[in-house]
Amino acid sequence: MEHGVKLSSGQVLPPVTFGTWKLDDTAAEQAVRDAATEGYRAFDTGQRYHNEAGVGAGMRTASVPREQLMVTTKLRGGDHGAEQAERAFKASLRNLGLDYVDLYLIHWPLPRLGLYVETWQALHELRDQGLIRTIGVSNFTAEHIDALIAATGEAPAVNQVECHVGWRQDALRQQMADRGVVVQSWGAIGRGKGLLEDGRLQQVAAQHGVSPAQVAMRWAWQQGVPVIAKSGNPERRRQNLDLDSFMLTDDDMALLATFEQVRIGKDPDVDEEY
Ligand SMILES: NC(=O)c1ccc[n+]([C@@H]2O[C@H](COP(=O)([O-])OP(=O)(O)OC[C@H]3O[C@@H](n4cnc5c(N)ncnc54)[C@H](OP(=O)(O)O)[C@@H]3O)[C@@H](O)[C@H]2O)c1
Repeated sequence: MEHGVKLSSGQVLPPVTFGTWKLDDTAAEQAVRDAATEGYRAFDTGQRYHNEAGVGAGMRTASVPREQLMVTTKLRGGDHGAEQAERAFKASLRNLGLDYVDLYLIHWPLPRLGLYVETWQALHELRDQGLIRTIGVSNFTAEHIDALIAATGEAPAVNQVECHVGWRQDALRQQMADRGVVVQSWGAIGRGKGLLEDGRLQQVAAQHGVSPAQVAMRWAWQQGVPVIAKSGNPERRRQNLDLDSFMLTDDDMALLATFEQVRIGKDPDVDEEY
């Protein structure tokens, strides 16, 4: 079996997806092509990242066949609603220059708008047309997911959320497991905001002869949570793919459980992103 987590759709999400936020089209094209050669098989973008064209071009010109690669893209907050969602998805498909999207996510729930259920229903139709392999969400709480299940009887295959040693999401992970939803972590290595300089990650890394980033990602993956990591640096990209050459011990996990819990990103219940 392919290495990774099997989704309810049957697709397999690998342990590490390559993140592309902040890469412009030119940088994304090159990074995605290189990352595919280095061994990455999944790529994460979003219409809001303004680089779908670069990500798609990188995938189309990679040395690995398209069907062995996975792309995730996401519907922006401003595109909630049935008609808007269909238009936005088709624009993403054109930007990517691909025939189908592997994983399509509602980027944020924006509960104040009250349109995420209608949007979710629109995604089903696009999947029925063969344009999307797997549908999911990002930054949703259990309450939001329950509204989707109540409306369609189907839980999203994936909920991509902030999840790292400094924001463990214990309760959400349990709630998602109970509903058959795979949690994918964004921010596992802390988004360049100081997490990797923490002495505890550095201590565990030194003991295993790996980097703090590898420890941070292994912490998630060892608990069955696949991660996303972005690097513009080929050496770090290679390092980030290597999560299976070491195992964290119970003592390591106990030390990593001592992080103060502080969110890096936004609160999906109140913050809005368009
Ligand atoms: N769904 C959502 O709402 C959401 C939100 C945020 C992010 N995301 C997705 O998740 C991805 C990851 O988030 P992110 O890009 O913000 O940040 P990230 O992947 O958590 O961190 C990237 C930072 O870490 C550095 N880095 C990478 N590997 C490293 C290593 N081995 N050692 C030391 N430093 C390393 C990178 O620098 P270099 O490039 O110089 O190596 C960069 O500064 C995004 O690209 C995006 O695809 C999704």
